[in-house]
Amino acid sequence: MDLLKGGSYSVFLERVKMTSVASDMYEMVMQFPDLLTKLKMDQDTKETCIRLGNNGLGGVVTLGMGGSAIAGLYVQALFLDSSPIPIIANREYILPKYVDSNWCAIAVSYSGNTEETLTACNEAIKRNCRLFTVGSGGKLSQKSESLNKIKIPGGYQPRAAFPLLFSAVLNLVECLLGTEPTDLAEISETLSKRLAQWENSRLAPRTVAQDLAGKIPVFIGSRDLVPVAYRAKCQINENAKGMAFFSQIPEANHNEIESFVDKNRSNIKPIFLRSSYEDARIKKRIDITTSLYEEEGFSPVRLSIESSSKIEEMLALTYYLDLVSVELAHIRGVDPLSVERISRLKGELG
Ligand code: PA5
Repeated sequence: MDLLKGGSYSVFLERVKMTSVASDMYEMVMQFPDLLTKLKMDQDTKETCIRLGNNGLGGVVTLGMGGSAIAGLYVQALFLDSSPIPIIANREYILPKYVDSNWCAIAVSYSGNTEETLTACNEAIKRNCRLFTVGSGGKLSQKSESLNKIKIPGGYQPRAAFPLLFSAVLNLVECLLGTEPTDLAEISETLSKRLAQWENSRLAPRTVAQDLAGKIPVFIGSRDLVPVAYRAKCQINENAKGMAFFSQIPEANHNEIESFVDKNRSNIKPIFLRSSYEDARIKKRIDITTSLYEEEGFSPVRLSIESSSKIEEMLALTYYLDLVSVELAHIRGVDPLSVERISRLKGELG
C-alpha cells in the first residue's frame, strides 16, 4: 500500500491550532512543518562554523539521548555518502577514543539536563573539542566553553521539538562542511500540503493507527530511512506507550528474516518504509523480503511518500509517522505527553 494523493481538506485540519506553545502532543506534532523554519542561524555562528570547517576539522560528533539524539542520527545518515569527514551520533556517557581536539562536538539536549549528554559533553571539553550546545536551557546552556549556544524555545516535549533540534544541527553541519544549505522553508511548505493529502487517502494516519492497535509494529528502513524507522519505533514507545521495534535492510536479511516463521508472532506487523532513492539491489532485497513475510502469513505494510529529495522524504515520513503515533495513543487511551517511567528513572538516578 502506498500513501495516495487526496483532494479536499478534512476534519484533521480543523483541529490545527497554531499556538506558539502547544498544550498537547497532537498540537505539537501539527506544528512540525512550522517548527522546521523557526530557527535562523546567526552570522556569528555561521562565521565560527566556516572558520572551523576551513581549519582541518577531523570530524563532527553529536551528543544526545532519546528525542534529542534523533537530529544527530538523521544528519549522520544524510551525509553518510558525501561527507569527507566522519559525522557520528553518540548516544552514550563515553566518547569514542578517536574524538580529539580536531573534532567538533554538538551537544543536544532539549532539557539541557540529561546525564549522559552532560557527561559526554564534559569529556569533549576535556579533550578540547570545539563545542556547540543546542537546547532550551538547563545545565548544558551554562557551559561557558560553548562556542555558540543555540537556544531552542521551551514548552515542548523533547521528541516534539525534533524539527527545531534537527534544523539547528543540520544548519551547523552544513556550515561546517561548507555545503549548500537545505531549503527547509520549501520542505516545510510541502509538508503542510501533505497533511490534507494523507487525510484523504487510504492511509490516513488514524486509519493506519487503527490497523496497528493491538499489534507490534516492526519498522524496517534502508539507508536514510533507517533513522526514520528508529524514530517511528521510539514515537510508538513514548507517545502510544506501545511496544515497537525497528530494523534495517540489508542487515535484517542476515538474521531477523529467519524469525519470521515463529508461531508466537500473530501480532507482529512489518512496516516497510520504502524510498524512491533505493538502488536496484536494495529494492530487490526489500521486494523479496516482503514476499517472504507474506508467504509466512504476515501482512506487511509498505509506506512511501513522493518527494523531491532524500531529506524531504525523511521528514515527510517522520511527520506522518509522528501523527500515527499520536493517533495510536488516543486509540489506546493513553496520554502521549507523559513519560512517567523515563522521569521516574531519571529521578531515581538522582
Ligand atoms: O522524548 C523524551 O522525552 C526523551 O526521549 C528525552 O528526549 C530524553 O530522555 C533526553 O532528554 P533531553 O531531550 O531533555 O536531553
